[in-house]
Amino acid sequence: MINKFDMMEDIEQVLVSEEALQARIKEVGAQISEDYRGKCPILVGVLKGVVPFYAAMAQAITIPVQEDFMCVTSFEGGTQSTGKLTFRKDIDHDIEGRDVLILEDILDSGRTLKLIVDLFQARRPKSVKICTMLDKPTGRTEDLKADYVCFTVPDAFVVGYGLDYDDYYRNLPFVGVLKASVYQDK
Ligand code: IMP
Ligand code: MG
Repeated sequence: MINKFDMMEDIEQVLVSEEALQARIKEVGAQISEDYRGKCPILVGVLKGVVPFYAAMAQAITIPVQEDFMCVTSFEGGTQSTGKLTFRKDIDHDIEGRDVLILEDILDSGRTLKLIVDLFQARRPKSVKICTMLDKPTGRTEDLKADYVCFTVPDAFVVGYGLDYDDYYRNLPFVGVLKASVYQDK
């Protein structure tokens, strides 16, 4: 079925504006460039939600990096993680002895990143760190902290700037709270 709707009508509230995102990404990118000076980290993006954030962050980082992606899904069209992770695509690079910086759209329960971090650690990298656009600490079930956080968000289901509901709303240029009426009774 093809849905036609006005995305803006489904947004309860804008949480992080386009301007605030760009400014903060530049700031964190500068910090990462400083911290990794003299190194050449591999930036690993977790698809698909990370795409706009990855593009902006990679450009905000001013030191040489190599780029890679992996694809993992934990939601099946809902607003709650199913807890069951499906690996759809692994990274291409050999990360043994390398500095790895994982970029993620949102750190919620931490299950996705915990699994990825454990998988990577077994490949004996020099270091593994996490940079997330959003941190939702209220959702955490795993003992995991991001090394770089752009924004901390409250306990709400958010969409935009890569984040989706049923693969929609990813193309909104800001992060907003999705109206509950959109996903209730579905
Ligand atoms: P975790 O494994 O529970 O930390 O969830 C991480 C993944 O769940 C993210 O990569 C997102 O795809 C998704 N996710 C968690 N919270 C939200 C949200 O509020 N909106 C959209 N996606 C979310
Ligand atoms: Mg996701």
